[in-house]
Amino acid sequence: MNIENKTVLITGANRGIGQALVNEALRRGAKRVYAGTRGAPTITDERVTPLTLDVTSAEQIQGAVDKVDTLDVLINNAGIALYDDLSNSGAIEQSLAVNLFGSFNLTRAFLPLLRRSKGAIINNLSLLALAPLPVIPSYSISKAAAFNMTQSQRALLAREGVTVHGVFLGPIDTDMNRGFDIPKASPESAAAGIFDGLANGEEDIFPDPASQSIAEGWRTGVAKAFERQYAGFLPPSAA
Ligand SMILES: NC(=O)c1ccc[n+]([C@@H]2O[C@H](COP(=O)([O-])OP(=O)(O)OC[C@H]3O[C@@H](n4cnc5c(N)ncnc54)[C@H](OP(=O)(O)O)[C@@H]3O)[C@@H](O)[C@H]2O)c1
Repeated sequence: MNIENKTVLITGANRGIGQALVNEALRRGAKRVYAGTRGAPTITDERVTPLTLDVTSAEQIQGAVDKVDTLDVLINNAGIALYDDLSNSGAIEQSLAVNLFGSFNLTRAFLPLLRRSKGAIINNLSLLALAPLPVIPSYSISKAAAFNMTQSQRALLAREGVTVHGVFLGPIDTDMNRGFDIPKASPESAAAGIFDGLANGEEDIFPDPASQSIAEGWRTGVAKAFERQYAGFLPPSAA
């Protein structure tokens, strides 16, 4: 799907990759960009509609639904990463609340509009969905769960004409990984890679150099083969 003349909703739109996605959507000619933020919006443009949107708040999700009349692309971008050591369940619960249930609940709320437009859902995942970084294990768990959810959503929504895309981001230069002294791609290049992947119809999007290095292996690997095989078990009536 090409983003030109489309409506797109982006969560976590005030900084980092979310902010870059807003700018890139505008650059590519999006008709309307709904920018979901917890605090004050950072981008003002006549095509940008700010939405107060904490993805853990059922009330704010409903408030957002009430303000959007048509939607082509939902980008579940908001996320948190906590340093922890799995010594208790608190960090897992917080990470799941935003990175899994936030995306899940927002997707459910906007599904009627996405069904109507035969739209697309983009879930910003991470290479850590495939293997954990043990300094942020709870984050890794939440991204693995969100990845698995993405695969089921893809199979369940395919016959309704809604496509579901997972983005396997590698290290991007944002506040989230300030502490890691490693090569990082710019948020602008990652945002462009995400919209390029959508335009190319890629269900798994690898938008930066680190993620691109494993793209071919992933697409031809055993896990992808299982995903396709298991999706075939879905009875037609379930779709
Ligand atoms: N940076 C990386 O290297 C990297 C790598 C792999 C995946 N990712 C993923 O890419 C996405 C964006 O990350 P980023 O690097 O741009 O992170 P970031 O700079 O830390 O920004 C995170 C964004 O998420 C928002 N957010 C956090 N909790 C929220 C909530 N409960 N409701 C709504 N918004 C919330 C933040 O809003 P506030 O400003 O209000 O806190 C902020 O806009 C995340 O899903 C992240 O896991 C990033």
